[in-house]
Amino acid sequence: QRRIRVPHLQAMTDRGEKWAMLTAYDMYAAEIFDEAGIPVLLVGDSAGNNVYGFETTVPVTVDHLVPLVRAVTSAAKHAMVVADLPFGSYQASPQQALATATRFMKEGMAHAVKLEGGRPMVPEVELLVRAGIPVMGHIGFTPQSEHVLGGYKVQARGSGADKLMDDALALEEAGCFAVVIEMVPVPAAKAVADALRIPVIGIGAGPEVDAQVLVWQDMAGLRGGKAPRFVKKYANLRAELAQAAREYADEVRSGAFPAAENSFEE
Ligand code: KIV
Ligand code: NA
Repeated sequence: QRRIRVPHLQAMTDRGEKWAMLTAYDMYAAEIFDEAGIPVLLVGDSAGNNVYGFETTVPVTVDHLVPLVRAVTSAAKHAMVVADLPFGSYQASPQQALATATRFMKEGMAHAVKLEGGRPMVPEVELLVRAGIPVMGHIGFTPQSEHVLGGYKVQARGSGADKLMDDALALEEAGCFAVVIEMVPVPAAKAVADALRIPVIGIGAGPEVDAQVLVWQDMAGLRGGKAPRFVKKYANLRAELAQAAREYADEVRSGAFPAAENSFEE
């Protein structure tokens, strides 16, 4: 199978085939999800919360993400790898956005970029698309603006649905190949998916959209504590890893590890 590209995703959506996207930040995750047939891997700025231990995505820089993008693109044979543009690396001007996206395409060898924001981001999206860079939009709850939005909150409730629709239409018109909508009620998400031709990817946006995305550590149960309502845990990796670490330490203490089979005779 060849590399997944924009037309493959559009074709799946045109056929009414729903598809799944996951984040990935390193080689093994990329390799495993790629082999599992996940068509799109996002090196999200959620690396802030899931790799670097920050409380938000705001402190994440281009230098934090470029090496992760490079690792994921090196390991994924088929998946399209999308690099998130971090806070402050694209909002100043279309020229800034192009310079940042160019770093991700060249140094990270990304296949596409993603940025947050609706209608105000149209000039940035247009310049990137004109330069030949596929752009994924991201509207609804946008974590980079969480200090303005007042924390993790459902967006586009009531009359907010009109703004969501306006932003979605503006991004499609500007040339985005797909749009993520985060934490919006099902009817607003469905209306956007119905109105747009390009794939609408939901996270906390219900089932009536074209695709879904989750942070892989949430999906696999690696994250501790209470996960958001929109997460489903398909594995319990945290408990499994903790158990493995405890058994290893126990066997080191008891002398059961390393055994003869783990040792060199001479
Ligand atoms: O950074 C990220 O992981 C994201 C997805 C959750 C859409 O932006
Ligand atoms: Na993100």
